[in-house]
Amino acid sequence: MKEKIGIAVLVSGGGTNLQALIDAERSGLLEHGHIVAVISSQRDAYALERARIAGIPGYAFVRKELGADEFERRIAETVDSSGASLIILAGFMSILSENFVKKYPDRIINIHPALIPSFCGKGYYGLRVHEEALKRGVKITGATVHFVNEIPDGGRIIMQKAVPVRKGDTPEILQQRVMRQAEWKIYPRAAEKVCRELIEKEKNNGKVQS
Ligand code: GRF
Repeated sequence: MKEKIGIAVLVSGGGTNLQALIDAERSGLLEHGHIVAVISSQRDAYALERARIAGIPGYAFVRKELGADEFERRIAETVDSSGASLIILAGFMSILSENFVKKYPDRIINIHPALIPSFCGKGYYGLRVHEEALKRGVKITGATVHFVNEIPDGGRIIMQKAVPVRKGDTPEILQQRVMRQAEWKIYPRAAEKVCRELIEKEKNNGKVQS
């Protein structure tokens, strides 16, 4: 039985959620997961610098240069050869094909900066999510960690945290509050929960086989 689940984190940008995961592994909060690879869809993503500082192997694959099929083939190859059995999307700005997602059932998780099923699905990413929440006048928003399936933001919900919307909020201010109060808090906790469950599953599979 494996004591820790290997994790590949897929990124495209600043990587503050990646940092929260790195810090959680270091502090012991992410006790049953070990980040073995950081894969970026942008060569200049600051997330890669965070990986380098933490001593985690980093890779960059650019979809436009490789074409969609080769892009995903390289990601899968890197995930598999790094020994990762859980993929964590942390600000990864590229939608993975149904083919890719089906290869890793219940093994890909994502964080969305709203309370799913609000303000989610195709086209809802980045500041747009917070713009729409403000436009609609909701008093509460938040973040959701969910499994990834073939429907954008449609997989099983793992964890959510609510955040208040305040008078005078701009999309940028709200985005920051959602990150600080929800995303950076629940992503490491949700990752730990999924890792623990995967270890349990592996243990049970072992029992069935023996
Ligand atoms: C976060 O808002 C996350 O919810 C969304 O993309 C953003 C990533 O930010 N999926 P960072 O790269 O983790 O700083």
